[in-house]
Amino acid sequence: MNAFSSLDPRDRRGPVVCIGSVVADLVAHPLRTVPAPGRQALVDSIGLYSGGSGGNTASALARLGVPVELIARTGADALGEFLRQELGRRGIGLAGLRRTAGAGTSCTLALVDPDGERRFIHAVGANAHLTLADVDWGLIERAPIVHVAGALVLPGLDGAPLAELLARARQLGALTSLDIIWDDTGRWMQMLGPALPFVHLFLPNLAEAQALTGCQTPDAAGQALLAAGVSAVVIKLGAAGCLVKTAAGPALTVPGFPAAALDATGAGDAFAAGLLAALWRGWDLAAAARLANAVGAQCVTSLGATAGIGTWEETLAMLDAAG
Ligand SMILES: Nc1ncnc2c1ncn2[C@@H]1O[C@H](COP(=O)(O)OP(=O)(O)OP(=O)(O)O)[C@@H](O)[C@H]1O
Ligand SMILES: [Mg+2]
Repeated sequence: MNAFSSLDPRDRRGPVVCIGSVVADLVAHPLRTVPAPGRQALVDSIGLYSGGSGGNTASALARLGVPVELIARTGADALGEFLRQELGRRGIGLAGLRRTAGAGTSCTLALVDPDGERRFIHAVGANAHLTLADVDWGLIERAPIVHVAGALVLPGLDGAPLAELLARARQLGALTSLDIIWDDTGRWMQMLGPALPFVHLFLPNLAEAQALTGCQTPDAAGQALLAAGVSAVVIKLGAAGCLVKTAAGPALTVPGFPAAALDATGAGDAFAAGLLAALWRGWDLAAAARLANAVGAQCVTSLGATAGIGTWEETLAMLDAAG
């Protein structure tokens, strides 16, 4: 299959499969003082939201009108039921969302101070129990696109199992796509290298691309990632947009959309969803990258990972308005 210009037309309208983390985000705001041991701090509100790279990317795809199936794990607990309900309400297929009795649902406590600065407290929980054994190959067989979100922080899948997953998905005819999370343990290529030859589309941000390759410029890092085996790399550059690099031609910088940035949480996931939504509809990679920048910009202008993301039509209108 030509990965970017002709997803097999028989299958192109089937559901995208998204594999990755799901997290219950508890957000307390505003935290004026950090309480001393044994003391309590009062905040105006504590809200519960659905988060995690897999859940966020699937949510944004659904919002953009793309059918999507999520493969992920929660605990067998109230937070897991909350995520199941919330993700289901967004229209995401949950046949591949498993429960584990062995761990609680992954949870982040976000303490937001009055200036918007955040402190995070995170329990990895059930996301560490997501393994190759959870993958429903029937879903993968029918998927035009298989996207893994949040690799390098998926301990049950990272390394050899991730390479096997992507190799099999690709063999079954899917376009394979991969996004990662900054890895504090510094294992970069040692962990990811074996998977890269099976990745059609790799979506790191610049800092991650630099850490993986040791190259400083986006162009050089992109070149090194192509040499490591990916078919195409799209490096996210924050407000500056992204850089697209394939073996076929010179690197292309696609400028970002001006945005009054309020909260960058989930921008990378929104970007990935925009890119995949456009490819799913048959757009070429350069045009898809422009739309992905628009969806990333939508994300940063509102609080939370998915609240700002528009429908497909709203996103097209944003592209039209920009000319
Ligand atoms: N301030 C901004 N203004 C306009 N667009 C933005 C801004 N920040 C991010 N974006 C858009 O969102 C995309 C992804 O953001 P970013 O480069 O921060 O990715 P990331 O580091 O993977 O994000 P995350 O922290 O969510 O993992 C950018 O490529 C760009 O298109
Ligand atoms: Mg990211």
